[in-house]
Amino acid sequence: MDSTLERTIRDRIDEEKARTAPPAEAIEIPLIPVGRYTDAAFYELEKQRIFGRSWLFVGHESEWPQAGSYRLTTRSGAPIVVVRGEDGELRGFYNACRHRGAPVTRDECGTARRLTCQYHSWSYGTDGTLKSVPDSRSFTDLDQGSLGLVPVRCETWDGWVFISEDAQAVPLLEFLGPIADQMAEIDGPAMRAVGTQVHRLECNWKLMVDAFLEVYHVRTVHPDNAAFLYNDQSATVTMLPHGNSRLTVEKHDAFRDFAMVSEENDNPAVPLLWRQTSTSFGIFPNLVVPMDTGAFTFLCMWPTSGTTTDLELRWYAPAWAGDEVPQEHLDRMVLFDTVMAQDQANMAPIQASISSPGARPFHIGWHERLIHHFERAVDLAIGPDLLPVGTAVSDALDGYVELA
Ligand code: FES
Ligand SMILES: [Fe+2]
Repeated sequence: MDSTLERTIRDRIDEEKARTAPPAEAIEIPLIPVGRYTDAAFYELEKQRIFGRSWLFVGHESEWPQAGSYRLTTRSGAPIVVVRGEDGELRGFYNACRHRGAPVTRDECGTARRLTCQYHSWSYGTDGTLKSVPDSRSFTDLDQGSLGLVPVRCETWDGWVFISEDAQAVPLLEFLGPIADQMAEIDGPAMRAVGTQVHRLECNWKLMVDAFLEVYHVRTVHPDNAAFLYNDQSATVTMLPHGNSRLTVEKHDAFRDFAMVSEENDNPAVPLLWRQTSTSFGIFPNLVVPMDTGAFTFLCMWPTSGTTTDLELRWYAPAWAGDEVPQEHLDRMVLFDTVMAQDQANMAPIQASISSPGARPFHIGWHERLIHHFERAVDLAIGPDLLPVGTAVSDALDGYVELA
C-alpha cells in the first residue's frame, strides 16, 4: 500500500493511544437532532433524494457469471434488474415492461437469453432492447426501437457492482475518490461470494450506520469478542469527500500478528496494516466494509420503513477451488453473527427512546465525529433547505474533510 498513507495512519494511531485529552484540533461537535431518525417527512426525502440517487452496492461481478445472468433488487425502493449482456457488460434496468408496466422477471436471479414480460410476453434482449411483441398486428405504428427497458446506471469498480437511479450522478470512481485505490488493496476481482445474512432491525437505518462509524461502544457492547481483539483507544478516523470515511483500530499486541485464517484461505493481497488493524471504509450512504484477510463482509443498511431496517451482510472471500465454501469462512460468518446480535440489541430500544417525550439530541465525542460527517452528508444529499425544521446537523466539521 502507499507508504505515505501507511505512515500517516500508524502515526495517528500512536497519537490516539498517547493522548489524555481531546487533540488540539478538536472542537465541540454540535448536537445531532433526533428528529432526523423519527420524522416521517425526513424519511420520505431520504427515499427520493438519497436512495433514489446514490450509488448503491448490489454485488460482485462473479454473481453474474455469464451472458444472460440477471439479478433483481428492490432494496433501493424501485424494482431494478441488473443483467449481463451478450457483450459481457452489466446493465441495469427498471423491472417494468414498456407495454403496461408488468415485471420482465419475477425471479430473484437466473439466466435468460431474453427477459420476457409476465403479462403479455413482450420480450427484451439482455441489452434492454425490445425484441418481440406478440400480436403486433393490433398495434398501430409501434416504434419498437424506442421501447427498450428504462435504464438505470450500473458501474463496476474493482469487481464490485453499484447502481444509481440518478442519470446525473458523478461516475462511481469519482464518487469513491481515494477509497477506490485504498480498497482495491483487497483485490476485488479475485473474490467470490460466500453467502448473505440479513438481520431485521426495528430502527431507522441511520442509527445502524452510526454504530458502524465508531468503536467507542466496543468495550460495552462486545466485551467478549471485539473488545478482546481491538484497542478502541487507538481508533483513527478520516472524513473523506462525499460523506465517505475510513476508520482504523489497532489489534491488541497479542493478536496483532496472529493469523486469523489458514494460509490456504488467506487473501495474499491484504497489506500488513489492514492485517494488524481493523480498517473499515464507510461508503455513503448505506455501506460499511471492514477489510480482512479470508472472508470479509459488505454491511448494507437498507431502510424498509422510517423505523425498520434490513441489515444485509454480503460475504466474499478469495476464490477457492470446488463448490463447497471453506468451513472457516462459514465459521467466521457465525462468529460475526454473534457480534451483530449484540449491536442489534441496542437498536430497537434507542428507536423507542428517541420516539418518546424523553428524546433529546445526541452528544457526539471527537472520536465519534464520523457520525456527524455521515449525517451532514445526508443533509447535503437531501438539500439543507428541504429538511424538516429542527432536524439538520451543523456544517461545523466541513473544514475537516481530507482527501486521502
Ligand atoms: S405489460 Fe408487458 S407485455 Fe403487457
Ligand atoms: Fe458493534
